Parts: sequence; C-alpha cells; structure tokens
Amino acid sequence: MTFDNKKLAAEAAVAEVRDGMVVGLGTGSTAAFAIDAIGRRVAQGLRVTAVATSVASAEQARRLNIPLLDFADVARVDLTIDGTDEIDGALVAVKGAGGAMLREKAVAAASTRMVVIADGSKQVERLGAAKLPVEVLPFARAFVLSRLVELFDRVELRDAGSYRTDNDNVVADCHDAQVSDPGVLAAVLQAIPGVVGHGLFLDEVDAAYIATDGVVARVERGG
Ligand code: A5P
Repeated sequence: MTFDNKKLAAEAAVAEVRDGMVVGLGTGSTAAFAIDAIGRRVAQGLRVTAVATSVASAEQARRLNIPLLDFADVARVDLTIDGTDEIDGALVAVKGAGGAMLREKAVAAASTRMVVIADGSKQVERLGAAKLPVEVLPFARAFVLSRLVELFDRVELRDAGSYRTDNDNVVADCHDAQVSDPGVLAAVLQAIPGVVGHGLFLDEVDAAYIATDGVVARVERGG
C-alpha cells in the first residue's frame, strides 16, 4: 500500500487553523498540500487571512480564494505551516531547496507558532546531507562565494548563477559544511556582508508533523 505522506502531514497540521487566524503559507510541494487543505476549509466557511512565503504560494492561495495580506503590512502571524528539507530531533531545520528560505524565515520569525510538515524522509538524526542554500546579493557574488568555499567542501551557484529568488538574489547551494555546529555556522554565514539569508532554521520551528507509512507523528519543541 502506498501513502501520500506529504499530504497526510499537511492535512494534520491544517487542523490547527482556526477562525480569525492570520496564517503563514509555506512554499514547496508539501506546503502546497496545506494550502489546498486551507482552501477547501475556506470554501466551507473558514474565515482566515494569509501571508505567503513565495510568489508561487501566493498564486496558489489566490486561485483558492484564500484572502491574502501583504506581509509588508503584517507584524504578527498566528500560525505558519511550511515544509522542510531536513529536520532533526531538536527541530532544527534546513530549508530552501525551493529558494524561498528568506521569506520563509521572516514569516516564521513573525509567527506565534510555526509548524513544519514533512514525510519521514526529511527526519534526520544529524543535519548535513541536504544542501544548505545561501541567498546572496548579486552585487557581492564573487566575494561571498570566496568566503563560502572556506566554509563548505562544495559550493554551487544555483543554475550556474541564472536562478533568481523572489527577491531577485542568487542562491549558492552549499554542501558538506566544515563547521558542524549549526548555531556557529548560522552566525558565521549571517556575518558575511552580502549574505542576505540562509536555510538554517535554528529555533523558529515549534512543532513538526511527520508522516511515515500513513502514520502522522507530531513532535513539539521541548517534548
Ligand atoms: C522552499 O524554499 C523550501 O524551504 C521548502 O519548504 C522545502 O524545500 C520543502 O519542499 P518540499 O515540501 O517540496 O520537499
């Protein structure tokens, strides 16, 4: 029997959405299931407003008649539901395969509660198998790359430099960090002028819904 674990995790998390909430809409294939589920509940009468973490998610929300706010006007979000590329037992996550990590992190930081949804393949004992995307100001590209290659074994500009985020920046996909502590790595990255953001989510995630073989487990920060 096959299970759509991404969909199951997404639908379990969407059960947390209540009338009156401002909801953060994540980005990626798992978050798209959550947006679909919110859209179905809106069609049945749920009253929420939403902010989107990407142009693609905003377009999906518009198609589903989910009322959208401009995040530029929103300081506080009640609940954000987003996917991940990796998540460990302490709910430290690596995000950004879809290039949306900067907006995702801003919305997550503004959120009273941020939940990650994923299939079991994203749950890891130790972070580091997934690439770590770093969003880079194009103006400072060569300089930032020269710093990143000192920190990682392999650094690749996404689509050979032609990829642009929704913020019109480039992405360096970084593999095999020399620094094993995610907190130290995040601080070092953030201190490089020209690094606009990165996919390490140290403490933004409050809970995770992980679905494996059709069974959804919820993990809360701090047990
Ligand atoms: C978008 O930039 C990412 O952070 C996604 O949330 C993450 O890559 C998970 O995507 P999938 O749900 O498609 O695996």
